[in-house]
Amino acid sequence: MVFPTARGIALALMGTAAQAQYSGWDKGQVNSTMCLWKLPRVRDTVFIDGGALSWSQGMETGEYQRGTEWDPKGQVLSLSLRTSFTIPQNFTPLFQTHPKSNPSKGEISPIFSDGSLLANDDRFLLYGGVYPFSDSYPDPPGDSVVEFQAYPAGDSGTADFSPAFADEELPRDVTRYLAYGAGVSAPSENKAWYFSGLRSPSGGVIYEGYGVPEAVASNISDTLISVTFSDKDGDEDTWRNETIQDKARGRGGAAGVFVPVGEQGILVFVGGATFPEFAYATHKSENPAAQKSESGAFMSTVDVYDIASGKWYQQKTNSPSASPPILAQSCAVAQHAADLSSFNIYVYGGYGAVDKTSDFSDDVWILSLPSFTWVRGLSGTSDHARAGHKCVTPYPDQMMVVGGWIPTVGKDCLLGGVIQMLNLTSVEWMDGYDPEKYGEYGVPEVVVAEIGGDASGGATAKSPSGGWDDDGLEGVFGKAYATEKIKNWYPYQAAESTERPNVDDEKNRGGGGGGLPDWVPPTLGCVLGLIVVVVCGVGIFFWRRRKALRRASMIRDSVQSGLK
Ligand SMILES: *[C@@H]1O[C@H](CO)[C@@H](O)[C@H](O)[C@H]1NC(C)=O
Ligand SMILES: *[C@@H]1O[C@H](CO)[C@@H](O)[C@H](O)[C@H]1NC(C)=O
Ligand SMILES: *[C@@H]1O[C@H](CO)[C@@H](O)[C@H](O)[C@H]1NC(C)=O
Ligand SMILES: *[C@@H]1O[C@H](CO)[C@@H](O)[C@H](O)[C@H]1NC(C)=O
Repeated sequence: MVFPTARGIALALMGTAAQAQYSGWDKGQVNSTMCLWKLPRVRDTVFIDGGALSWSQGMETGEYQRGTEWDPKGQVLSLSLRTSFTIPQNFTPLFQTHPKSNPSKGEISPIFSDGSLLANDDRFLLYGGVYPFSDSYPDPPGDSVVEFQAYPAGDSGTADFSPAFADEELPRDVTRYLAYGAGVSAPSENKAWYFSGLRSPSGGVIYEGYGVPEAVASNISDTLISVTFSDKDGDEDTWRNETIQDKARGRGGAAGVFVPVGEQGILVFVGGATFPEFAYATHKSENPAAQKSESGAFMSTVDVYDIASGKWYQQKTNSPSASPPILAQSCAVAQHAADLSSFNIYVYGGYGAVDKTSDFSDDVWILSLPSFTWVRGLSGTSDHARAGHKCVTPYPDQMMVVGGWIPTVGKDCLLGGVIQMLNLTSVEWMDGYDPEKYGEYGVPEVVVAEIGGDASGGATAKSPSGGWDDDGLEGVFGKAYATEKIKNWYPYQAAESTERPNVDDEKNRGGGGGGLPDWVPPTLGCVLGLIVVVVCGVGIFFWRRRKALRRASMIRDSVQSGLK
């Protein structure tokens, strides 16, 4: 009874995808702008996978219509940090595409939302997430993840290197059937984590926006999943599954950051919700009252994980001028004063997660450590608000916001576009990005007002105003992190062309790569046959070989020239 209905939903989604912009344009369409969307950064490139991407399609009649794309057709997109842009603009031409599967061989990639790209400095793993139920492909297994090697590992040469996807098997006690957790990567430690999140009641397969309770990500996972990247080709990555029960508070939609204090750094988790609307097919919190009290506490007290000792701490925050609301699906980045006297965590956007129509934030909240002081850095406007976006710091003084969705889905696009830039020093929105324009990070005036010192540091507030809740955490803050371990990849040399990456279309088209030119100018979108493969290709999906064979069975990504 239930499954056919659900199948209908899935097929309807597939139908909508037929209007998608990486695969085909509609009759009468004259232009296309990314409208709404959902990341980590590897060196000079931002990689983005999955999410529900929707487009604003300009039609020859002068009207706009909306098209939806679920995961740009099995491709990872990338945005080079060598390319400048102004805001707002049509970002589509700035993205390069990297096919995860080879449609010309009948491979179809599942269409993931949420989950995380766990990264070190040269590759990333696509972990967790949900996808719409579909007849077009079998459920991907819960015990493997897709890996993308974007740059040669370590110091190995670039001569014979080409970026490639491969499958990686997970150990017996780690599953990929998990979503809405907080992904954090610490390339300086060669490690990454996925904190809590939601899974199905049985722990099995989970689908996006689905009417079958047993396959909905509704139950909080009391886990911290971690991966230590292997340094050498052929060595396996080390995955771990640690319980956080009675140590940290599980939830969905939290934001996490790596902060360089102590021997190996700490992870700080803020926000999230215990009964978020995205855990239910009805898209309404099943317990708004409990959500309010429990989730509010995720801002007033934060969970801190010390990497070296594996210990969890909880520390009360203080809010001298204003307290942040419940924020789920916000994004967070951390930046530190030059003298390491303060570590400032910027939390942007998010929403209350009681339902999907209200309480979206456009504020920038700053949690300054080690005083654990909340400061409102910027008061936003509701029309610019977003949730479900990701943030990275291309330069010490800049935060890039990618993607997001808005309460009135179906009506409007993200105001200003799918990419926004914030100056972390002045806490002001910027009108674009230029790889040649950057500065050192300065502690913002609003923060200095609370913690003392000046832009370069010298904070006088060296501990939480209410005191340390655990002496152990004070001890962690007492030891300086060897910040020279953090490799900076900036400044990024400006690319010659700001419009179109320099790649050879003919060479890449349908060749050894994914059957798609790696660069698809929007006007050529309609000539590609990919959509036919996706909709008709039932049952001809196959999985790539496992890691043991991965070097031999590399699926070549056809874009090596764009990644240098
Ligand atoms: C896109 O199409 C719309 C509707 O036809 C039109 O109003 C708009 O000017 C077009 N934008 C560009 C950049 O061509
Ligand atoms: C973590 O380990 C427990 C115990 O083996 C297992 O039941 C659970 O499914 C694992 N969770 C994840 C997210 O891998
Ligand atoms: C999972 O969540 C559902 C819905 O909130 C709840 O009824 C059920 O008891 C939970 N199951 C487990 C195993 O925690
Ligand atoms: C960011 O703001 C600071 C302080 O106003 C300024 O000095 C710096 O140049 C700005 N950075 C960029 C890239 O505009």
